[in-house]
Amino acid sequence: MKVLNYIDGRWVSSTSGQFVSIINPATGESIGEVALSNEQDVKQAVSAAKRAQKKWALVPAPKRAKVLYKVGMLLQERKEQIARLLTMEMGKVIEEARGEVQEGIDMAFYMAGEGRRLFGDTTPSELPNKFAMSVRAPIGVVGLITPWNFPIAIATWKSFPAIVAGNAVVWKPALETPIMAQQLAQIFEEAGLPNGVFNVVHGRGSVVGEALVEHRDVKVISFTGSNEVGRRIAEMCGRHLKKVSLEMGGKNAIIVMDDADIALAVEAIIWSAFGTSGQRCTACSRVIVHEHVKKHVEERLLAAINTLTVGNGLEEGVKVGPVINQDALQKIHHYVQIGKNEGATLLAGGYILQDGPYKEGFYYAPTLFTNVTPTMRIAREEIFGPVTSIISVRSLEEAIEVNNSVDYGLSSAIFTRDIHRAFTAMRDFDTGIVYVNAGTTGAEIHLPFGGTKGTGNGHRDSGVAALDVFTEWKSIYVDYSGKLQRAQIDV
Ligand code: UN1
Repeated sequence: MKVLNYIDGRWVSSTSGQFVSIINPATGESIGEVALSNEQDVKQAVSAAKRAQKKWALVPAPKRAKVLYKVGMLLQERKEQIARLLTMEMGKVIEEARGEVQEGIDMAFYMAGEGRRLFGDTTPSELPNKFAMSVRAPIGVVGLITPWNFPIAIATWKSFPAIVAGNAVVWKPALETPIMAQQLAQIFEEAGLPNGVFNVVHGRGSVVGEALVEHRDVKVISFTGSNEVGRRIAEMCGRHLKKVSLEMGGKNAIIVMDDADIALAVEAIIWSAFGTSGQRCTACSRVIVHEHVKKHVEERLLAAINTLTVGNGLEEGVKVGPVINQDALQKIHHYVQIGKNEGATLLAGGYILQDGPYKEGFYYAPTLFTNVTPTMRIAREEIFGPVTSIISVRSLEEAIEVNNSVDYGLSSAIFTRDIHRAFTAMRDFDTGIVYVNAGTTGAEIHLPFGGTKGTGNGHRDSGVAALDVFTEWKSIYVDYSGKLQRAQIDV
């Protein structure tokens, strides 16, 4: 399979003529190759987008939305096929891949509905015979830079609101997952989106991403990825006074109080910590447990980990797939060494799986540390792998303090049966997402998605909040008094 760029409605190779392999992380095998693009390709895509956007913005929003309804239906029809490709390309188990495609379907219908809303405000004017309102205006060409861990869902979170609001898109997907980008572009094409409204340029962040961020006709950048890259993008955007929305991971905790339903909490921890092999920005990488139930939680977690089957996500019964590549394996393993050196107790896992069926792919054993303290690096830094750490506390106050002590602020959860504790946590957890009696993963598409501190820069994906990223507020005053009326003066 050869994955090309999609520019101005045409499938084209990079002007560089270069390609790189796409690797199935479950087998280490090449499943195709993808264009390795350069600045020239970005320029072509941006100029196509700029041309197309002018016309697209004039199409009535309910008509723009019709394309999204069609996109939703096509995604629905191809759900299984896309999910299988997603598992092959990125490694997550097939059940989760189906869930991810469903996230895109939900977003398509939800954002299509915005075609008949895109609400602004009407409000009385302070002067007689004068009308005041605010409307959402498209911004122009938007640049999207997305990661490999949710290669289709995150693209839909960003491109669907951008498109329904009347913008044109140039998207740089992660180089590890170009097939998902190809599938989405193909669907946009079949749904009848005009040429140039949606463009895809494959390549490295340092080349394609940078060219997109630096291009002066790209008016907004929406990025999901690492904190390090996000900061760099924000700096570049700052120099251009360019709007930028960043979502940069987490160090999410599940708090288990001594009155919790422990069996339920353990189930949620397993799902949140080891689902997608821990490669979610919402993954539970800290378990903050009340000391009275620490032993109990440890025992139950250990027993549950022992039942997890690791393997190729396409196989029945596999619960934990591979991680994305060799570099990820090394990084995860390095963190495990750091944890051991810091004095944490390794309860499960802690090694690269490399024998028998694991020989060719990139597999890490589900790993559990205990006796972790909040200052250890494994309790503060994002590992992005199947590794979680138990930290014990004596009270809800201490749990909240530990939860909030990290540099990230995406998601947190509390397991308790006490309504007072639940509401206190809802108020005092400083993350953008809070769960009560559910794990840290599983955000729904109609609520804002994002976080505080090192996780973001104040913007949100998903929900109506996403429209704030891709629209400009325009305040409009219509004076039909026939006289010069001066606000604040003629009162
Ligand atoms: C991500 O990891 O970047 O809430 C997105 C969740 C998913 C999305 C995760 N719906 O875990």
